[in-house]
Amino acid sequence: MTTALAPTVQPAIADAAARVERTLDRLLPKPVDTEAPLFAAMRYATLGGGKRLRPFLVLSGARLFGVAEACALRVAAAVECVHCYSLVHDDLPAMDDDTMRRGKPTVHVEYDEATAVLAGDALLTLAFEILANPETHADPQVRCALVHALAVAAGGHGMVGGQTLDMLAERKQFDTDAITRLQRMKTGELFAFACEAGAVLGKADGTRRQALHAYAHDLGLAFQIADDLLDVEGREEEVGKKTGKDATAGKATFVSILGVERARAQARMLADQAIAHLDVFEDRADMLRAVARYVVERRV
Ligand code: IPE
Ligand code: IPE
Ligand code: MG
Ligand code: MG
Ligand code: MG
Repeated sequence: MTTALAPTVQPAIADAAARVERTLDRLLPKPVDTEAPLFAAMRYATLGGGKRLRPFLVLSGARLFGVAEACALRVAAAVECVHCYSLVHDDLPAMDDDTMRRGKPTVHVEYDEATAVLAGDALLTLAFEILANPETHADPQVRCALVHALAVAAGGHGMVGGQTLDMLAERKQFDTDAITRLQRMKTGELFAFACEAGAVLGKADGTRRQALHAYAHDLGLAFQIADDLLDVEGREEEVGKKTGKDATAGKATFVSILGVERARAQARMLADQAIAHLDVFEDRADMLRAVARYVVERRV
């Protein structure tokens, strides 16, 4: 079972993160020419930090379908570009107004707000440039399916829509159903893309893709509850970002509604639920099972 595997998941994530770092370094523009500050900000936002969990999910999912790692790494880099863009914009004064991210000053603090907005924009578009490139997959239909899936996950019905609801959650009463929807959009949709991308690359059947989708939705929700718990209980030096922000902003989260203990129980229940969707893959999905445990027990 998964608990026994938990010690192996962190080294596996770190190992994959090193390969993702090299891929991102290669794909991100070098800070030369007149646009150098923009490119430097993109690299600052993306390189040298983060858990690289979404890329790890892409690589683990791709392995289930025998996809070449070079292709999977490009998709992993694309999803990380979208994630990093979302963090740069999330930290802006107009949103969460944060000054620390991944243990260093946020992009708008290190550079300026305009550069942060533009670096985020450029990271988002770079993600689609990567996916659309024939090096990502020889079949244009597969590339098109990846572009479409990432656009849906990141857009108004996905992450950006969720971020909009998240801002509303500072001013309006949200019950657990509303928060579930918010967090599934804000975090779960990008997780779902990451988990399903391997199935798209490997042209897997609908049943197996659906199983990964269901896994990812529960995992994403569990992950976001863990993030909200870390905002209450985490140590700033450990998590690399300011804590106590949600309560200060008066934001409705599972933790604010259920309290710490029930929110933790909910996250663990969701991890169990996520794992239950993986039966179809038998022991080949053990790493994904271990990730689900890691996500709710993590301290960073
Ligand atoms: C933080 O994501 C933002 C959320 C969706 C909660 P991560 O916790 O994955 O951030 P990094 O990539 O490790 O910095
Ligand atoms: C950010 O959620 C989610 C996205 C960027 C899509 P949070 O605002 O809770 O993330 P942190 O706590 O700043 O990392
Ligand atoms: Mg936020
Ligand atoms: Mg934030
Ligand atoms: Mg948070």
